[in-house]
Amino acid sequence: MSKQSCHQVAVSQLQAQYQARIAAVLSQAIARLSPLAPQLKAAMEYGLLQGGKRVRPLLVYATGDLLGQGDLFAQANAASVNNTALDAAAAAVECIHAYSLIHDDLPAMDDDDLRRGKPTVHKAFDEATAILAGDALQALAFELLSQTNLGLSAERQLRMVQELAVAAGYHGMCGGQALDIQYEGQAIDSAALEQLHCHKTGALILAAVRLGALCTPDLQEPHLQALSQYAQAIGLAFQVQDDILDITADTQTLGKTQGKDIMQQKSTYPALLGLEGARQLADQLLDQALSALADIPYPTQTLEAFAHYIVKRDF
Ligand code: IPE
Ligand code: IPE
Ligand code: MG
Ligand code: MG
Ligand code: MG
Repeated sequence: MSKQSCHQVAVSQLQAQYQARIAAVLSQAIARLSPLAPQLKAAMEYGLLQGGKRVRPLLVYATGDLLGQGDLFAQANAASVNNTALDAAAAAVECIHAYSLIHDDLPAMDDDDLRRGKPTVHKAFDEATAILAGDALQALAFELLSQTNLGLSAERQLRMVQELAVAAGYHGMCGGQALDIQYEGQAIDSAALEQLHCHKTGALILAAVRLGALCTPDLQEPHLQALSQYAQAIGLAFQVQDDILDITADTQTLGKTQGKDIMQQKSTYPALLGLEGARQLADQLLDQALSALADIPYPTQTLEAFAHYIVKRDF
């Protein structure tokens, strides 16, 4: 088996295990919501639970497992999964991500009709409900991350709450989304494009890895730094590949409308560098991610395989 297909097999098995676990955790979080506002609850469930690759939870779990918080699968089928720090962190990051997609698809933003192979939340429900579902999922993220039974010190949990808040907000995803809209139709240079992508997508991927690491009480700062470098490289690579797939994949495979970036004159890496240039950049970022892992004295195969997956994925 070639090195690449070896990585693919390993990642797809792990992804299935982690996906099952995060699905159970997120389902429980939605099931616990009272019937106060049934349509809003249904929209949250639709935006959170219907598909998605779960890349960010996988990074939380894989990083936590790497640093010894694992043995996750000993309890993978337990009904009471939603009580570890890793579960809370993984769920919180995915709630922020799901909210960001619901709002990204709104008519005022990318105006998309299709997400994860289904009508977008504002199409399946209505715009007001989609806005509120995003808002409520964002709040739910912080509710989950601030639970008091996670086995971490209050100080550590406060740090995690703050890291997620920064990654989601002005200096993270929201700031990046603002730049994405501002730069529509403009020819920007590579520094501006990197800043845009690192904020709109990279910040939350960085947070996923850092939160996974911060679940380890005796985390060592140099390991956090190395993992952060890894995460920054794959975070940018993730959006470079998203931009490439918008051109090269088809709507059915993507589960979202192909060709939207060109239609909306988005600033993307293929627009700046051409398809081949964008592919080369993704490969360089993969190398950067792998070399960041080199000094970590733990078995980093899963994170390595996952970096390959992010750059080579086809949807
Ligand atoms: C899409 O994210 C939006 C970007 C940040 C590029 P994903 O490709 O992770 O979307 P899902 O969660 O798998 O649907
Ligand atoms: C979205 O980037 C990044 C977010 C913060 C949601 P895109 O607009 O490229 O994501 P897709 O292609 O719609 O999934
Ligand atoms: Mg967008
Ligand atoms: Mg979009
Ligand atoms: Mg895109």
